Amino acid sequence: MTLEAYHALRPFSAPEGHLFVKAGARGLDDPAYELLAQSLEPYGEEALDLNPGVGRVTLALLQHGLLVRAIETSRAALRCLEAGLAKRAEIVCGLPWEAPSESADMVALVLPAERGTRYVTLSLLGAARALRMGGRFYIAGNKSRGFDHYFRLAQEILGFGVVLERKGPLRVAVLEKEKPPPPLPPAWASFSCWVRGRTLEFAYLPGVFSAGGLDPGSTLLLENLEGDLGQVLDLGAGYGALSLPLVGWAEGLVLLEDDWPSVLSARRNLGEKATVLHSDVDEALTKGRTFATIVANPPFHVGGLVVLETAVAFIEAAYARLERGGKFYLVANRFLPYEPLLLERFGRVRTLAENSHKVLLAQKLG
Ligand SMILES: C[S@@+](CC[C@H](N)C(=O)[O-])C[C@H]1O[C@@H](n2cnc3c(N)ncnc32)[C@H](O)[C@@H]1O
Repeated sequence: MTLEAYHALRPFSAPEGHLFVKAGARGLDDPAYELLAQSLEPYGEEALDLNPGVGRVTLALLQHGLLVRAIETSRAALRCLEAGLAKRAEIVCGLPWEAPSESADMVALVLPAERGTRYVTLSLLGAARALRMGGRFYIAGNKSRGFDHYFRLAQEILGFGVVLERKGPLRVAVLEKEKPPPPLPPAWASFSCWVRGRTLEFAYLPGVFSAGGLDPGSTLLLENLEGDLGQVLDLGAGYGALSLPLVGWAEGLVLLEDDWPSVLSARRNLGEKATVLHSDVDEALTKGRTFATIVANPPFHVGGLVVLETAVAFIEAAYARLERGGKFYLVANRFLPYEPLLLERFGRVRTLAENSHKVLLAQKLG
């Protein structure tokens, strides 16, 4: 896939109306969205979609004549929502647990189970806070990914609930807010670790990659960097695992990250020492901006499904954003087939280290 093809927005006709979709954006291929969109009954006037992805459920809420606010964390999904629904719904980049209190009659949530228990729990609490008393909370999820557990938790937080739909392992339930929600627990956590001869502290929000400790792949990449780094681009930066250790070594640091909780975490960790941009691959960079070194531990999941198209776009973007002679360091699980892709784009690829992960180096020549 070319970088241009990755960034292209495509119109999509869902039963609920027209949307835009694109590579790397959640919420199209996941059947939980479709089942939730089909199961909603309108209630009140104002609705909140707390995990909209490309907007299938947002669209269903709009079709029922509700005023809709959609709160999304992924820049790729926000690009689709802004293109398709900005004239009809309020599209907000934000955290699901920070929706304004008592602002909605109805909340819809496809359970973001792939983001971990803390993230889902905070999302449930956020929904409970955002609902007015007596309001309705629709949740959708998969039995094999904790639906029953999260439904019970939602009942403890809100009150009465009932399962409305069962389709294979998928479930949709509706609950009514019968009591004031418990206070939100602190969202931030942190850990310290020893990296390249010093102790570093990383703060992070729920749902980020490798919460609680550096990923072994990222550690291997850091151990294999050498020489002058010049201006460094950290592509898919997470909470800044690859960048914080480079402060004082890199001439400058730019971090690009699709996920808003990760962007907030990286900004807290790097402060003024780097520029952290909310970006779908390289879309937030100005045209022609290039770097001497690019580092990446690319994602290979979108909304819990294994998808390599974003990783392919990372490789394309790395080539496009390297200056001549610049180096691209990529780390991945050993089973991921990145060598042929790097070979095709860069003409040459070297394996610098290998254990459960591998560090690959590709240089832009000519
Ligand atoms: C495997 S994690 C690596 C994170 C960090 N570099 C580290 O080493 O811990 C991949 C990161 O890419 C981010 N990501 C996924 N899709 C992206 C996209 N389209 N544009 C930019 N970042 C993306 C994910 O949110 C995640 O933080």
